[in-house]
Amino acid sequence: MFSKLILLLVAPAVFGIKLQLYQQGLCEQVNLGRPFFEMDRFLGEWVEHYRFVLPDNQEDCVKNYYSAFNGTFYNLTETKTNIASGRNTSSTFSVRLAEPLANPVYGKLLVNNVHEIYYVPATDYTRYAFVQACEEVNSTHYNQYLWLLGRPGVNINLAEFNIQGSELLRPTIQDDR
Ligand SMILES: *[C@@H]1O[C@H](CO)[C@@H](O)[C@H](O)[C@H]1NC(C)=O
Ligand SMILES: *[C@@H]1O[C@H](CO)[C@@H](O)[C@H](O)[C@H]1NC(C)=O
Ligand SMILES: *[C@@H]1O[C@H](CO)[C@@H](O)[C@H](O)[C@H]1NC(C)=O
Ligand SMILES: *[C@@H]1O[C@H](CO)[C@@H](O)[C@H](O)[C@H]1NC(C)=O
Repeated sequence: MFSKLILLLVAPAVFGIKLQLYQQGLCEQVNLGRPFFEMDRFLGEWVEHYRFVLPDNQEDCVKNYYSAFNGTFYNLTETKTNIASGRNTSSTFSVRLAEPLANPVYGKLLVNNVHEIYYVPATDYTRYAFVQACEEVNSTHYNQYLWLLGRPGVNINLAEFNIQGSELLRPTIQDDR
């Protein structure tokens, strides 16, 4: 953990993320949020480029829009399309920082959707953001999901990041078909 932090501070775009099915432990032992997280800079539109989430329910064209609601709460609107059925869906969730008064503030967001907590382990705010969620599969193992997001119009190349287990990621289709 400590060495990961140093790496993050020294070289923001080359941090380590390890994807693996069924990791041993409990989600409450996992804190993936980056330190010195700035929610105001994270707001706005993000386009999803890659995802690892189970079950993969064939969602594509996924976009996330984070906006300020009041001083404490934010809204997250997710739009997506199921390409096979042509069905578009849009959902809005309420978001707030898990520990807004911590020093430093971590990229840990309470979200009122099935995942409950989103972690932002890394973002440069202007090009890319990693969002993760943890799910306990039973009393001894958990899965950590990952969405790799980019600002509109930005190219995201997986090779610029150090992601172990990146074969678990699948590209999100972003055309409308
Ligand atoms: C912000 O909105 C939330 C949710 O509606 C509410 O619980 C909270 O009291 C509001 N806070 C402020 C400062 O208005
Ligand atoms: C779904 O959204 C896309 C783009 O956002 C649009 O081109 C398409 O017409 C929509 N499909 C339906 C069935 O509303
Ligand atoms: C944004 O979040 C607030 C507070 O949780 C909620 O009351 C409001 O309905 C949301 N806005 C939209 C457009 O869903
Ligand atoms: C939990 O799931 C993992 C992965 O399938 C499995 O290896 C482990 O034995 C399971 N533990 C329990 C207590 O069921």
